[in-house]
Amino acid sequence: MSGLHVLVLAAGKGTRMKSALPKVLHPLSGRPLIDYVLRAAESLEPVTITVIVGHNSDAVRYALAGRPALRFVIQEPQLGTAHAVLQAEPMLGAAKGTLLLLSGDVPLLAPGTLRRVVSTHHEAGAAATVLTATVERPYGYGRIVRTRGAITRIVEERDASPTERTIREINTGVYAFDLEPLFPALQSVAAKNAQGEYYLPDLVAIYRRRRLTVATVNVDNPDEIRGINSRTELAEVGALVRQQKNEELMAAGVTLVDPATTYVDTDVIVGPDTVIHPNVYLEGQTAIGAACEIFAGVRIADSTIGDRVTIKNFCVLDGATVASDARVGPFAHLRPGSDIRERAHIGNFVETKQTIVGEGSKANHLAYLGDATVGAGVNVGAGVITCNYDGARKHPTVIEDEAFIGSDSQLVAPVRVGKGAFVAAGSTIVDDVPPGSLGIARGRQTNVQGWVEKKGPAATKPKA
Ligand code: UD1
Ligand code: CA
Repeated sequence: MSGLHVLVLAAGKGTRMKSALPKVLHPLSGRPLIDYVLRAAESLEPVTITVIVGHNSDAVRYALAGRPALRFVIQEPQLGTAHAVLQAEPMLGAAKGTLLLLSGDVPLLAPGTLRRVVSTHHEAGAAATVLTATVERPYGYGRIVRTRGAITRIVEERDASPTERTIREINTGVYAFDLEPLFPALQSVAAKNAQGEYYLPDLVAIYRRRRLTVATVNVDNPDEIRGINSRTELAEVGALVRQQKNEELMAAGVTLVDPATTYVDTDVIVGPDTVIHPNVYLEGQTAIGAACEIFAGVRIADSTIGDRVTIKNFCVLDGATVASDARVGPFAHLRPGSDIRERAHIGNFVETKQTIVGEGSKANHLAYLGDATVGAGVNVGAGVITCNYDGARKHPTVIEDEAFIGSDSQLVAPVRVGKGAFVAAGSTIVDDVPPGSLGIARGRQTNVQGWVEKKGPAATKPKA
């Protein structure tokens, strides 16, 4: 849309959150609140997007550093929403066209709703257009006061009369403004209200007195305009987002055994015929293929899982890749850089980090594989440990194809076990094992003949 500029208000402290974190950075299904608002704004392809920051502005700017086109304006001190918009005058005062104003704490607005606000604004030739909603519980929102059907002003909860409080049509905090009269008019907003703040909604009455056109758009789905001012509202909106995501997944052919206890972040992708058991958390940038089974109590963050993968109960995967037909768990921990290839098995109490486990290889019990490259068809026995850390630096371990690492061995890195080589159980391997060889490094066993009889009855309780 040409001549469209977006302004996002995000300077407020969010007092009711009682948090050190700025309100707009609180995560909702894995993404900061303001990220939802910015994505919706970006979908309209505006000429510019400006964010008003104030309280803890460095944290907000840092969190949005991935969006180089964003412009920031600091509002200090924060004297209200009208004062916030006024701070953008140096940036937008000379611009022509339409300003779409959004709040950083209203995350669920659909792009289609925003488009409707802008198109109604243009069609009505309005100076201001207010997005309103008719809700069951108007408490806390500004109320839309109408005379003979036309909006005349907006009154905040605290300033409203008992009769006005019964009005169920509320201000969503989303507006379109014609840029031309906006900044001069903002100068005439006064702070004569219960909070002593400069209220942006007061512009409605000012415009009406000047006989400028003020239009309204009523949102179809009131859930879209839910603002977040408290932890309770964060949880309520979180539940809405989660429910919507779960419904999308089920519509796309994913079985959720118990949607009420399935927690899937909005950006997560899951293929059809995958079954997700209760109490599973799929977080961040995670993609799961088709026909997988994810058992109860699993948490998967920022990971990529292929097709037909089984993740048994109580595994934690973070920054891992698991290829098709692999099996993981129960009780496995795949840390960042874990790369589990096709048909590999990672069993119980196995931890991997920055490690490739090659095709069809197995580490089935109680192992630590860190900074390791494990080839294909390798068997890693129970209790094997790669000793990758010397107290100062990390070192690599290489285990070539078809090698066999006996149980309870330690591989002291840097070290390499050659193709098809064996490491005897209980070995501490400090030198490379050449291909096809047996590496054995342990004390020899001695059996003392007749020892029990010589020692007498006391010997039945052997001492260590
Ligand atoms: C505001 C509206 C109210 C509307 C509601 C919808 C006003 C006075 N009231 O109330 O009519 O129903 O939104 O959600 O506008 N902000 C700043 N600088 C400030 C003050 C606020 O940037 O000085 C930002 C906040 O960070 C927030 C947004 O503006 O993102 C709204 O402020 P908030 O204090 O939450 O207003 P509400 O009381 O919710
Ligand atoms: Ca608010």
